[in-house]
Amino acid sequence: MGISVHDSLELLPARECKVLYAAPILLVKHGVSEVGLLNVQAYLRCRKDELRKEAGIVKNFSVFDFSYIPAQPVMRDESKVLIDAILRYDHSGIPKNLAIFGSRGSGKTLMVRYLAKELRNETTLRILYANVRNHNTSFKVLTHLLKVQTRGASLDELFERFRQAHPVKTVVVLDEIDLMSAKDRQTEILYRLSRSRNNYMVVLLSNSPRLIHVIDPSARSTLQPEIVHFRNYDAEQIFQILLARAQQGLRWYEEEQLRQIAALTTRNTNSDVRVAIKSLFYTATEPNLAAEQAFDRASKDVVVDVIRDLNDKSLLILESARRTRSGFVKEIYQCYMRLSETHGEIPFSYMHFYNNLSYLQSCGLILLVSTKVARTYTNRIRLLFDPAIEAETYRQRFA
Ligand SMILES: Nc1ncnc2c1ncn2[C@@H]1O[C@H](COP(=O)(O)OP(=O)(O)OP(=O)(O)O)[C@@H](O)[C@H]1O
Ligand SMILES: [Mg+2]
Repeated sequence: MGISVHDSLELLPARECKVLYAAPILLVKHGVSEVGLLNVQAYLRCRKDELRKEAGIVKNFSVFDFSYIPAQPVMRDESKVLIDAILRYDHSGIPKNLAIFGSRGSGKTLMVRYLAKELRNETTLRILYANVRNHNTSFKVLTHLLKVQTRGASLDELFERFRQAHPVKTVVVLDEIDLMSAKDRQTEILYRLSRSRNNYMVVLLSNSPRLIHVIDPSARSTLQPEIVHFRNYDAEQIFQILLARAQQGLRWYEEEQLRQIAALTTRNTNSDVRVAIKSLFYTATEPNLAAEQAFDRASKDVVVDVIRDLNDKSLLILESARRTRSGFVKEIYQCYMRLSETHGEIPFSYMHFYNNLSYLQSCGLILLVSTKVARTYTNRIRLLFDPAIEAETYRQRFA
């Protein structure tokens, strides 16, 4: 009598599935392909079951997605400057440009995306968004905002099309502006937006306070942005953000645990809310995990993401910092020059290299410290990440 593979599986309780797919030898008479099929099917069903159990406490996974826009973000004072400027512009047509900076996970992107969504149906004003990480020249930003593929068009033509497509009040948000390519030093788009008769409003976002320095002086003088600092959240604010996510996304939770995660996040990161949200996710899906363990894992994950997102030049700088034991900035620069040559990269000048160190610091990866050596002060770098994570990313990209 032959065993029906499917029927036999239906009858098995989930916990026994592991035994079955761990012991295919019992079913060898059904032939290799059937055993293979059984393994996959059995595994699939068991995992489904396990995941269903894990999901028990989670009622809405989307709240753990970093791009999720909550119906009511937690209010912070700095957002009022942004909201007021946009509403005034909507009312008067007179733009006030803003340059907002704040460390990773301080809610810059969320706030503009939330306002874009909220105001879409209420006013004629439009908020357009481009992330310079993905569109790193004026040309690319414009093609992205126009949603067109343009071969052979000049920047003049593109901007004219943009002006025609957006004759009414329009806020242009350029996120991660400090990642504008060195090829576009003049940041042409800023110059044109600020000079246009269409009176566009520009909002620049960056996690580096040096964002204002990446803007060409002539664009800066027409833009005249007000600088707004999104300060790091305190533990209470992070707790409120976590509480809102827990209420939306979980069937049950313990406030004490949320407070623990909030405290760890403010103490051990630059209050990066992403780490807090991911820690909450881990505690929810693995009920036996303590807040500290979840937090450690989440911060590691986030560091991996940050390092993977770095461009080649920044990664080479980080690798050089890892290789230079003394941590002295000048030695790191020498190492970076050699490494760039090895990989056929044109290295940054010392000034750009130094600016990049500030960027890496604002990402929470390094700390620049001034130390006294032989009666003079010299700059040193302290690494704030697990070197093995960076070494692996470097190996994958350059090996
Ligand atoms: N006030 C808030 N209310 C609710 N959620 C928030 C708030 N601020 C931040 N978050 C959440 O924290 C995460 C990080 O926020 P966001 O992406 O806006 O940070 P950021 O400042 O743009 O960081 P980066 O500089 O790395 O781009 C997102 O998932 C966002 O939804
Ligand atoms: Mg952002």
